[in-house]
Amino acid sequence: MTAKVIDGKAFAARVRADVAAHVAAMKQDHGITPGLAVVLVGQDPASQVYVKNKHASTIEVGMNSFEHRLPAETSEADLLALVQKLNNDPAVHGILVQLPLPAHLNSDLIINAINPAKDVDGFHISNVGLLGTGQKAMVPCTPLGCLMMLRDHYGSLAGLNAVVVGRSNIVGKPMAQLLLNDSCTVTIAHSRTKNLEEVCQRADILVAAVGRPEMITAAHVRAGATVIDVGINRIERGGKNILVGDVDYASAASVAGAITPVPGGVGPMTIACLLANTLTATARAHGLAEPKGLTA
Ligand code: GUN
Repeated sequence: MTAKVIDGKAFAARVRADVAAHVAAMKQDHGITPGLAVVLVGQDPASQVYVKNKHASTIEVGMNSFEHRLPAETSEADLLALVQKLNNDPAVHGILVQLPLPAHLNSDLIINAINPAKDVDGFHISNVGLLGTGQKAMVPCTPLGCLMMLRDHYGSLAGLNAVVVGRSNIVGKPMAQLLLNDSCTVTIAHSRTKNLEEVCQRADILVAAVGRPEMITAAHVRAGATVIDVGINRIERGGKNILVGDVDYASAASVAGAITPVPGGVGPMTIACLLANTLTATARAHGLAEPKGLTA
């Protein structure tokens, strides 16, 4: 079988264009410009790249971008004061504190200080609880991107068997919750799961979010299944530094019905969904109709 390649780059471009059109209409009809504040503490090189990309994408869709770069030794009190200031700023509709934070800062404390209505990462405990009870929440960007691609591929997900490999708060758990809310039969597998291959073989939808390069192979994939690869791992191969997912692409693609590549699969959807969430937060803040197709 030759798997259909799910093109996340093209999908993300469509989402960004859709967001840009909504932003233009919001400005014209209501005089409102959505604003996203991103807070980066310290000099982590990967985080700096993410924050730069977020800034450029935010501007590109016509939103305001507010960047706050703080030194690594910033105190918890100073960071909390900035979060409070952003919570109270009417021009800021979305707040994202880039993770990981330096070790002396308590991430849970900082994230839970963000106004849940502005929590475009969907990491605040209120949003986690709302998602878990099937209520209107801000939903974490990467799982939201995966959900959009799956809905686009299948139409309805009802009754499908989904296996999520990975139980992180950022991807695995919210992904499982979203699939459950769309009426999938959901299994969460992880590093301690027994007979992982057998468990994964039950999946119509297999989501790999374990952070281990190429650990999911053809042996884990049922013929015709859809494989969503959330992993982004840098490895050395043939003297080169390359990006690979949590899925052994060539192996899994030989049996899957559809598969996301790395790069160009889930990755581009994350920032597109961050913009979608900022738009949704803005619409909710002003009592406007929520954009269709851009939320869970
Ligand atoms: N660091 C890596 N991914 C993310 C993300 O989705 N949100 C935040 N805030 N930090 C991250």
